Amino acid sequence: AKASIVLDPAFTVGKTDPRLFGSFVEHLGRCVYGGIFEPGHPTADDEGFRQDVIELVRELGVTVIRYPGGNFVSGYNWEDGVGPIDKRPRRRELAWFSTETNAFGTNEFMSWCAKAGLEPMMAVNLGTKGADEARGLLEYCNVEGGTALSALRHQHGHPNPHRVKLWCLGNEMDAPWQIGAKTAREYGTLARESAKLMRWLDPSIELVACGSSSRSMPTFAEWERIVLEETFDVVEYISLHGYFSKHGDKSRDFMAEADLVGRYIDEIVAVADGVAARRRSPKRIMLSFDEWNVWYRTRDRATRTKPGWPEAPAILEELFTMEDALVFGAALLTLINRCNRVKAACVAQLVNVIGLIMTETGGRAWRQPIFYPFQHAAQWARGTVLDMRLACGTFTAGDGEQFPDIVSAAVLAEDGKSLSLFCVNRNFDLAIDLEIDLRGFDLSNFVESRVMISDDINATNTADDPERVRPQNGPAATRHKGAWHLNLPPASWNVFRFE
Ligand code: AHR
Repeated sequence: AKASIVLDPAFTVGKTDPRLFGSFVEHLGRCVYGGIFEPGHPTADDEGFRQDVIELVRELGVTVIRYPGGNFVSGYNWEDGVGPIDKRPRRRELAWFSTETNAFGTNEFMSWCAKAGLEPMMAVNLGTKGADEARGLLEYCNVEGGTALSALRHQHGHPNPHRVKLWCLGNEMDAPWQIGAKTAREYGTLARESAKLMRWLDPSIELVACGSSSRSMPTFAEWERIVLEETFDVVEYISLHGYFSKHGDKSRDFMAEADLVGRYIDEIVAVADGVAARRRSPKRIMLSFDEWNVWYRTRDRATRTKPGWPEAPAILEELFTMEDALVFGAALLTLINRCNRVKAACVAQLVNVIGLIMTETGGRAWRQPIFYPFQHAAQWARGTVLDMRLACGTFTAGDGEQFPDIVSAAVLAEDGKSLSLFCVNRNFDLAIDLEIDLRGFDLSNFVESRVMISDDINATNTADDPERVRPQNGPAATRHKGAWHLNLPPASWNVFRFE
């Protein structure tokens, strides 16, 4: 099959915000305990942080980490997780029906972020708590000193403020499964009042209001309209959450999930700008896609919880396949192509729980197939996204709709000296000969390519076979009559770099 892409330096979408390459650590299953934090593990440092995991986190290139939830945050007392460990309460945790020991809390998270070189993104509890607790946590984290809660932080051994900039006003407050779920008007009012207090306390923060838990929620779009009517003046972002599922053997529908991400973003932009229009406001609300991933094998209630209130149960431990990596990569490119409005995004989650990284408690750590598209993008999709013209074949999915075989994004590096082209070939049967017209660019050298394919679309990486699915150096691009020619194998993730 044949396809073509035209790129022109005059036509750009915008710059990728580093926060597009974020992830998420929730008190859920083995994400914290046995994931990033495991005192006694052979690689643990004096604070109990697994160094094997920190090394993989660095290699991944992740920038910002959302914490502590997720559904968990909606029942969380942040006070439980600070101060002397032996005084911290054990609790029955009602989001995931586990026992929370609180051995890890806000200060441990900040310390872990500092060691791993990450920006923290905190969520406040607007489920069982409200504006007062939100401003309390902000005071504890960000006020230098001279107040009761900043003094408490000093007393807990942290004289320097954590200076957290980015704050989520609750989590998935529209969802019936959320602790303390609310109507749009109830949540919008609470979020507005919490935001006011938080901003008065620290004007430097940026705030994210909760959008819908997914595009399929019954109140989708109407929820965002009402929430933004209430919060428009006091927030910078609205959140989006999207998990992609494969139903049965419907690979084509699964592949098309990435296109629905684009549709979802466009719809929320329309709703947000509609709220702005009614106010005749030039302000533009940006999007924080702060939970996204493939997730379908461990999603039903039976696999989501384990009986007996266990500590750190092995739940939501999805083993991703090569096929998942294609959907994941295509979704990531879709976010990148909308970087003018999507300013933050977090893969849910970082370790073990639908994670980019897997670990054995007490044992090894390894990379899931989805690790690699993320790593490539976090490294090379920094800069200006080009507004590409792509012509390619299509496949049929859903209700007979046509979707392009290729999902692609092109990013010119900050210094303008190199260009990275990312492509997913979603055609499982045919290789594609892709012609690239780099008109107007002064890029005459092909630098390198990476390709990730597998002889088995269902291949996974396991502790015993951790590198079954991984990228390799790909073929060189060739030049013919002023255009570059690239080969995209069937069902493949590809990166081509020029300078
Ligand atoms: O990431 C897993 C869960 O999915 C999060 O806790 C919640 O916000 C979402 O429903």
